[in-house]
Amino acid sequence: MTMSIAAKHAKGKSAQDKIFGANAAAVAAAAKYGKDAVTNATIGAILDEDEKLVCLPTVEEVFRGLSTNEMIAYAPISGLPEYLDCVLTAAFGNSRPEGYIAAVATAGGTGAIHHAIWNYTDNGDTVLCSDWYWGAYKVLCQDMGRNFTTYKMLDENNKFNLPALKEKVDELLAKQDNLLYLLNTPAHNPTGYSLSGEDMDGVLAILKEAAVPGKNIVFFLDVAYIDYAGEKEEVRKIFKKLSGLPANILCIVGYSMSKGFTMYGQRTGAMIGVSSDKSVIDEFAAINQYTSRATWSNINRPAMRTLATIYSDPELLAKVCAERDYYYQMIKARADLFAKEAEECGLPMLPYVAGFFLSIPAKNPDAICEKLHEDNIFAVPLAAGVRIAVCAVPLKKIKGMAVKVNAAMQAVGE
Ligand SMILES: Cc1ncc(COP(=O)(O)O)c(C=O)c1O
Repeated sequence: MTMSIAAKHAKGKSAQDKIFGANAAAVAAAAKYGKDAVTNATIGAILDEDEKLVCLPTVEEVFRGLSTNEMIAYAPISGLPEYLDCVLTAAFGNSRPEGYIAAVATAGGTGAIHHAIWNYTDNGDTVLCSDWYWGAYKVLCQDMGRNFTTYKMLDENNKFNLPALKEKVDELLAKQDNLLYLLNTPAHNPTGYSLSGEDMDGVLAILKEAAVPGKNIVFFLDVAYIDYAGEKEEVRKIFKKLSGLPANILCIVGYSMSKGFTMYGQRTGAMIGVSSDKSVIDEFAAINQYTSRATWSNINRPAMRTLATIYSDPELLAKVCAERDYYYQMIKARADLFAKEAEECGLPMLPYVAGFFLSIPAKNPDAICEKLHEDNIFAVPLAAGVRIAVCAVPLKKIKGMAVKVNAAMQAVGE
């Protein structure tokens, strides 16, 4: 008999991460059949056309050029002041919303999501997200004793489903006083969808209507992929829409250096609060700093210094932007080829705008992924379909992939 001495809330917890599982299968196949014979579409990081993990050259230069003291010293718990200042520019560009704004450094974008769940919902509350979502959201909620529910993200015309969102927002606020809504855009993981300006207007109208006195909404805008979402200023225009929201709607922008700086393992991000009310933002800065102290203390100083150095130097920044653009174009070419071939062979695909992933809707994602192993293609099965990491697959291996996915779907009876 197995024995458990874990506390009641911790009993039975184990995260079987399908992404890391699928990656392990791909690595094993590459060892057996050779790297060239295997397509590993599971990894959420940019690999170049030679399948090497990319580090933006200017980021590497700045990071490696830091002094030993910068590398090893503690940072203030809420983050290096220069970082907290520059991260606003990195996140918002020229579209900084009007209102009170504060940033708190977090351990990656994940840390920002963690603090938002912990500090803006109560035990037993339900957090809202779309039905296509990054799996970690649910794990984070469940680990903290929160429920997680979803609305159907796209309607039958593959448009952002505002009525489905409204129904869930109203239903949840009838039962609880605070609602945390997680929205990942632009370049959504796992579909590559980006909300249009009009979609965002619709979302904000729904939230404003629902935020009656006594009810609070925390709108968490997860922009982890914003640096590979399209033209820099164009994709940031959504932030202007966060100006002038009522005091009982707090927007938290979840920022991550993982993708934009290719510093995934350095675990650096920020949560940026935007509100029309000063006391809401003072509280935001205080409670989230407190939770940082209680969770990880301070975060990675050299990564914060790297961002601050680059965003204080127009020349360095121009170089980094050009490097990001190069890889944005590389990923886009792969997604475009997949989409073209998918259309040609009649493979259904969710509307991809930009980003690291695209998704194929399916009823039997596990069976399809299993079948694809026969072709040495490895993708990630999600609840409602198959995720393909175009960020990690060179163009030559994308060629013909849609046809194989289509054949696998037919073989398992989709
Ligand atoms: C949707 C989404 N949000 C946030 C993150 C944040 O990641 P990190 O904690 O590495 O910054 C990721 C990373 O995979 C993601 O896919």
